[in-house]
Amino acid sequence: MITFRVARNARIPSPLCSNSHKTNLKNPSDQSLNAGPFLWGAATSAHQVEGNNRNSDWWAWEQAGEVPYPSGKACDHWNQYLADFNLAQSLSHNAHRFSIEWSRIEPREGLWDETSLQHYSEVLEALRSRKLTPIVTLHHFTNPRWFSEKGGWAWPGASAAYLGYVDKVVQRLGLKAEYWIPINEPLVYVYYTYLSQIWPSKKKGMGAMLEALRQLERAYLLAYTLIHRFASSRNHTVRVGIAKAFMPFYPCQKTKFLSKPSCTLRDYLFNKRMIARFARRKALDFIGVNYYTRDFIQWGGVGPMKLIGMPCPASHGHTQNARTTMDWEIYPEGLGVILNSLRRYRLPILITENGAAVQDDATRTSFIEKHIEVVQQAAQKGLSIMGYLYWSLFDNFEWDRGFHQHFGLIEVDPKDLSRRVRPSAKRYREIIQNAQSKTPKW
Ligand code: BGC
Repeated sequence: MITFRVARNARIPSPLCSNSHKTNLKNPSDQSLNAGPFLWGAATSAHQVEGNNRNSDWWAWEQAGEVPYPSGKACDHWNQYLADFNLAQSLSHNAHRFSIEWSRIEPREGLWDETSLQHYSEVLEALRSRKLTPIVTLHHFTNPRWFSEKGGWAWPGASAAYLGYVDKVVQRLGLKAEYWIPINEPLVYVYYTYLSQIWPSKKKGMGAMLEALRQLERAYLLAYTLIHRFASSRNHTVRVGIAKAFMPFYPCQKTKFLSKPSCTLRDYLFNKRMIARFARRKALDFIGVNYYTRDFIQWGGVGPMKLIGMPCPASHGHTQNARTTMDWEIYPEGLGVILNSLRRYRLPILITENGAAVQDDATRTSFIEKHIEVVQQAAQKGLSIMGYLYWSLFDNFEWDRGFHQHFGLIEVDPKDLSRRVRPSAKRYREIIQNAQSKTPKW
């Protein structure tokens, strides 16, 4: 039996600058905030599903031949969103996370595209009319081309430019959603963009990465304040949080003694630093957890960058657990480790992404069952869990890996883009229905 509840005493922080604007949370025991229904659903991001995002830096990168597979029409979700939301609704989802594409809203600097704003307004209406609570991400890895040409996130004007876009979106769509995620996975983004250099950017290297991270953190904090300020002026309720990738790190057995400090350092830098910083600033209404796998870390040698060690290859044989086609170990216990480590912040937690790319759908079914069981155990131990969002609703464009990674609850035929609901989606529906029948109405 799976029952979930959001703890009634969950701490909801006041917005960033409590002097400059009042909190919109009139009463900390407000039922709509502290005790909403558990959010069940799936997540997507604009560039991965919409198709034809011609003004984004990713599109330009693809056209320049930097990745083997261009996103093209992706899942054509831009056109098929109504039918797609019908499917999500038929699968008993009551929430849906998606992202707004900045390059569609502001295709040229300072030029706002009314058609796109109207489109997202209709998307939000479509979700709400199907009783799918919208969870809106404002930045999920892609940028307008003009922004990238100025230097992207390593440009000192980046966060101010981003805030202009957020302001536009919030003024126009702010009353249509309660859950907002200003930025998705800033650390993953800067790592692949500036260090691995496999994602689009003109600037590269450590200096650019650190500046980009600074800008992204600033952008998050500014957006947090802006959204709250807007909401409180309209008497509207919002919750704003980050969607952050988390991963537990374990020492390589071959160099255990030397690897342990690297794991601790990595854990601090990757899992803890940003959350602690935002929590200290009272700029997190919830922590969005993106969880996929764990890593084993081997000793990396001497030198500032080497201190964080290196991920062990699978050939080190630390685990016999099954792996996904992304070559990620399936390790549900790791989600428990992460959830438990977040207890100290006393903030509600939303599982904003959790999923597996697999060829065999039965593996996805067991992945979902096992991870939800871990979430259930965490909730039973008193953690305030707001919801669980599977990644992803469809098979979609998996960035530099193209369309060969099948994360979807719904299969998308690459030839005609037709949809087929997988058995794992039906099992997920069963879990949701079961949980809902056991959970008291709020
Ligand atoms: C990202 C998604 C991506 C997924 C699987 C997450 O880190 O937010 O965009 O598709 O991982 O790689």
